Amino acid sequence: MAKFTLPINSRITEGKTFKPSVEPKNRLRVDIYRYNPDLNSNPYLDTYILDKDKFGPMGLDVLLYIKNNVDPTLAFRRSCREGICGSCSMNINGTNTLACILNVAEETHLKIYPLPHMPVVKDLVPDMKDFYKQYESIKPWLINDSKPDREHRQSQEDRGKLDGLIECVLCACCSTSCPSYWWNSDKYLGPATLLHAYRWIIDSRDTAQKERLSELADKFKLFRCHTIMNCTKTCPKNLNPAKAISHIKQMLASQ
Ligand code: SF4
Ligand code: SF4
Ligand code: FES
Repeated sequence: MAKFTLPINSRITEGKTFKPSVEPKNRLRVDIYRYNPDLNSNPYLDTYILDKDKFGPMGLDVLLYIKNNVDPTLAFRRSCREGICGSCSMNINGTNTLACILNVAEETHLKIYPLPHMPVVKDLVPDMKDFYKQYESIKPWLINDSKPDREHRQSQEDRGKLDGLIECVLCACCSTSCPSYWWNSDKYLGPATLLHAYRWIIDSRDTAQKERLSELADKFKLFRCHTIMNCTKTCPKNLNPAKAISHIKQMLASQ
């Protein structure tokens, strides 16, 4: 692997050369995809050489350090830094993940790209418009016209059935790792949206199960899932969207 004489906190744009030399053990090389629509030029890679002692162990710590100390023009999304808001999703070293909960302390080289197969707004910020439209299409809210005195009650057992579904933070790591979604993202709903569809289908308080299922009985919306399992493998919250999708298919088959 190439080693660097560059001073700490330097930035190199792809194509420029730099001299090999001895690499200190706490030195981190970070290659980041850059794209600025205002420049009217192709995307390129920037390389940053950093001293690991200067920031925390998580991927987001690295990005925040770069933005605050080396290159304020770098664009990425983040909010909670706790794996809760789902906004810092990106591809780090070949895997879709949440930067804030990925420990990179042992890494010497990071390659950071936006979520794959999404239009890019700027740098690491993907355009999520269509993803959210798909999410909206499954009516992600309780449908129940009855008016209880205080609240729609649910037994502990029925509430337990929603575990493993309600933890989803809509980061889109799963959908953007799915080959079926890459090729048909205009028609296939993708694992994240389908996991949420299943969450509402099995909610004991919801009265629209039949309608929700018949909405999904479509060769593209649901049946483009070929059980490739990338989604489950990549989910940074350890959820299993592929299992939720197979449950929907089973429910439709047994109707
Ligand atoms: S299991 Fe289905 S949703 Fe998940 S990656 Fe495979 S095709 Fe995509
Ligand atoms: S299922 Fe996992 S990867 Fe997919 S959107 Fe939800 S949290 Fe993200
Ligand atoms: S910043 Fe909220 S999930 Fe990473």
